[in-house]
Amino acid sequence: MGRVAVSRSQQWFGGVDKTGFFHRSGIKAMGVPNRMFDGRPVIGICNTWSQLTPCNAHFRELAEHVARGVYEAGGFPLEFPVTSMGETLMRPSTMLYRNLVSMDVEETLRANPLDGVVLLCGCDKTTPALLMGAASVDLPTIVLSGGPTLPGRRRGVPLPSGTGTYAMYDEVRAGTMGADEFVAAEACMWRSNGHCNTMGTASTMASLVEAMGLGLPGNAAIPAVDARRKVLAQDAGVRAVELVREKVAMSQILTREAFENAIRINAAIGGSTNAVVHLLALAGRIEVPLSLDDFDTIAAGVPLIVDLVPSGKYLMDEFFDAGGLPVVINELGSLLHRDALTVTGKSLGDNAAGATSWGSPAIRTCDDPLQRDAGIAVLHGNLAPDGAIIKPSAATPELLVHRGRAVVFEDIDDLRARIDEPDLEVDANSVLILKGAGPRGYPGMPEMGNLPIPAKLLRQGVTDMVRISDARMSGTAFGAVVLHVAPEAAAGGPLAFVQDGDVIELDVPARRLHLDVPAEELDRRREISALTDHTKQVEGGYLQMYLEHVTQADTGADFDFLRGRRGSAVPRASH
Ligand code: FES
Repeated sequence: MGRVAVSRSQQWFGGVDKTGFFHRSGIKAMGVPNRMFDGRPVIGICNTWSQLTPCNAHFRELAEHVARGVYEAGGFPLEFPVTSMGETLMRPSTMLYRNLVSMDVEETLRANPLDGVVLLCGCDKTTPALLMGAASVDLPTIVLSGGPTLPGRRRGVPLPSGTGTYAMYDEVRAGTMGADEFVAAEACMWRSNGHCNTMGTASTMASLVEAMGLGLPGNAAIPAVDARRKVLAQDAGVRAVELVREKVAMSQILTREAFENAIRINAAIGGSTNAVVHLLALAGRIEVPLSLDDFDTIAAGVPLIVDLVPSGKYLMDEFFDAGGLPVVINELGSLLHRDALTVTGKSLGDNAAGATSWGSPAIRTCDDPLQRDAGIAVLHGNLAPDGAIIKPSAATPELLVHRGRAVVFEDIDDLRARIDEPDLEVDANSVLILKGAGPRGYPGMPEMGNLPIPAKLLRQGVTDMVRISDARMSGTAFGAVVLHVAPEAAAGGPLAFVQDGDVIELDVPARRLHLDVPAEELDRRREISALTDHTKQVEGGYLQMYLEHVTQADTGADFDFLRGRRGSAVPRASH
């Protein structure tokens, strides 16, 4: 007779011995009855609530609704905090800490008596960090996003999260908006808890969670303050218990097909460029082969059908009214793997069956898209040997094929110091270059890739220019912006050797990014350059570890030693 497998939680709570006594006794101190240790599934509620992450400030209440669902299904919920990352406050960049938080999640899950987990994610990096950590453990896992904030409104017109800031700040710099007006607008943008109301990184990741089958239908679009978000939370609790009973590990849902669905959905919704680094890192954790070029080839032919800022004009409330992601899934038809398994226990296609749009213009049809061939273009050339990306739907079409002279900023401080200088030698045809903003550069690959248009050009009415960097860009930003150049300048990539006046060719249809400088001249520049060894600039601490182990953007900027699944084997007890 084979041995009956003992659940993870029972390896803590099941034994009538000194160790079991300690484990149960500690929990009973919270007023928990003995029957909770009878073998029922124990579900962790991994919470990124923090007042330093205002987008997630409603998560305590949301966690209570998840717990209701866990109890309803006969499980036992245990909520725990992990480090949170607030996009609006953290310096130098939340991306610097994404991998750290993933370690927090991974080790907390493995070290505790949990059979499954519900991940509460919202503000940008909280989603990939929690997904990555959970993927390395591979328990039954379900994601609950916090939902978008109320639509921003100022003086009767929509004010998109993030995107509106860039536009208004350009007005301030151009002298057409006063400082008082600018400050007054702050209260008009995020009008409630919840993440950005544009198709920025948070909404993108919430959509991709649903597309990959890790979130329940509705996860992407239900507003943060809508009562139906609480119902979704309770449903997530119920399903988490059932996933444990059904023995469905995260890796059974997060397959290659799930990633392909995510990449296609990202194209259809005009999703954030940040999804590229996050999905690459996640694939590395769950051991699914995925390359940077896959983002271009897999999304080929997928139309942009979601008309949301920054690629379009509506906000997330309109996306919800239009039926949200299930309508997009139905509209894309056979472009998706419809039989991919999801956390509902049903397929992606079955989940979306019957979803209809109520006529909101925020979701269009494949026959009448916003753009025919959307998605993220992956560029190669001597300026980006390991690749770079651009989001054509967010760029001025005329700039997608462009040849211009470089105006170089050696780092972010140099950019801030000189971008608005009246005597900066720049015109609308120039190509703005920013170095030193990649994973190792700043460090932490900040969202500085959408370099500001020089003030003197703003006053001439210039609204977009070709900009190239090793940085990322906010999902709420827009422009002819080439990002994630790899290798980055700080790692000795060719970007480090671009000089003012060099001619650069961008040809998005041909997927080409070329520095028109002879190879011998680039070699000469490399030989005489004195590249900084960034790992020598810090002494100890997390930053030391980060600089020594972060990989380049084309592999997701994860730590080299975190790739892969390390599983959920129960560590030995110490009592
Ligand atoms: Fe938190 Fe945009 S600032 S999602």
